Amino acid sequence: MSRPLSVAVAGLGTVGAGLIKLLRDNAEIVAARAGRPITVTAVSARDRTRDRGVELGGLRWYEDPVALADDPAVDVVVELIGGSEGPAKALAHAAIKAGKPLVTANKALIAVHGTELAAEAEAAGVPLAFEAAVAGGIPVIKALREGLAGNNISRVAGILNGTCNYILTTMRERGREFAEVLHEAQKLGYAEADPSFDIDGVDAAHKLAILAAIAFGRPVAFDAVHVEGIRRISALDIAFANELGYRIKLLGIARRINGGISARVHPCMVPEKLPIARVDGVFNAVVAEGDFVGRLMLEGRGAGAGPTASAVAADLIDIARGRSAPVWGASSGALTQIPSMPMSEHLGAYYLRLMVVDRAGVIADITAILRDYNVSVESMLQRGRSPGEAVPLVLITHETRESAMTEALARIAALNSVVEQPTMIRIEAA
Ligand SMILES: NC(=O)c1ccc[n+]([C@@H]2O[C@H](COP(=O)([O-])OP(=O)(O)OC[C@H]3O[C@@H](n4cnc5c(N)ncnc54)[C@H](OP(=O)(O)O)[C@@H]3O)[C@@H](O)[C@H]2O)c1
Repeated sequence: MSRPLSVAVAGLGTVGAGLIKLLRDNAEIVAARAGRPITVTAVSARDRTRDRGVELGGLRWYEDPVALADDPAVDVVVELIGGSEGPAKALAHAAIKAGKPLVTANKALIAVHGTELAAEAEAAGVPLAFEAAVAGGIPVIKALREGLAGNNISRVAGILNGTCNYILTTMRERGREFAEVLHEAQKLGYAEADPSFDIDGVDAAHKLAILAAIAFGRPVAFDAVHVEGIRRISALDIAFANELGYRIKLLGIARRINGGISARVHPCMVPEKLPIARVDGVFNAVVAEGDFVGRLMLEGRGAGAGPTASAVAADLIDIARGRSAPVWGASSGALTQIPSMPMSEHLGAYYLRLMVVDRAGVIADITAILRDYNVSVESMLQRGRSPGEAVPLVLITHETRESAMTEALARIAALNSVVEQPTMIRIEAA
């Protein structure tokens, strides 16, 4: 067997410690598949005294993670610090500059700086791998880029954030409100102390931007992703969704439409019979549609030490074997500048929930506004009677353009009889 592949790991948190454990526990099987042992020889983190549950004796310790790139005994650099800027970005550039393959689990870094990093890696002839950056343990990058390479992909969609999926699942199962469930998720370690990146949809948008670049062969375009999170989802909407045969999921969806790409992350009403509607708790899933393969779905754990280390290890094994695909599936010169479609062009059906004063004429006022914008209503649901008080009124529309829906909703919200900001959730039937 050839000499071991010497790996430097920057960041010894959940994923870094998990990777060291995996490479030790599965050393034999990894060596067999890689054709040589894969050994961590150098590490960096902030606090040298912290117990990380893995033995670090004998490893070279660096205070400055960027210095790992210049260690002559290091073959591959693994960046597991996180964040799109700061030491993670500096280390990524330094590793490529030093001619060392870079493996990262950092979706923020790849979504924001992926184009320039990929161009640098390509120019230097150095692999840049980030399987763990999207959907944790699900090998979705490899599946899209290599397994589906012969297809024209029309759509890629998924549950890309386990924290949001856990919160929405728990709200449905227990009939509880968002804030309560978020608090509990933080106590259980399923949500960060500052959960905004997850619950506001940014983390899912980072992952969707990466998937879209690979699926459609265009430079990664994080800024073009329309992003909404789950803060405004209420127990009432989840109960109505159940009644109407839907599940509410935070989906990331990228698809080709009219010569452009639409990429959006927002809560969706998904028909409960679809397989993705049944992906619950912290699980992630990705659905891809190709012209020859048809539709397929991959499901698994999108985060956690084990699943994420599993994806990083797969990248290391590829590097040890000398296998590498172009970062976005095709070389930079072959990528196309497909335009991004604005959200106002979106066409789809909508769920609207209004809190309206229970009195005669209210429904007529609302439907008159919808008619003005050519929004046709498929069904309407009103629960409870409470003359003079606010009651929920739910409307499901036929396919409508987003710009019309937005304008109609602004006028509806201004009616005296509408007492709360309307809730609008897009229906994603496919
Ligand atoms: N956690 C997951 O399930 C998961 C899943 C998929 C992808 N990811 C991605 O994987 C990456 C790591 O995530 P994580 O959950 O393992 O993070 P984490 O537990 O917060 O660990 C981050 C590590 O980076 C180290 N670090 C921070 N700043 C540093 C600096 N300036 N110099 C040296 N080391 C520094 C920290 O050192 P100290 O320990 O000394 O503070 C810590 O060991 C992120 O990009 C994340 O998005 C994570």
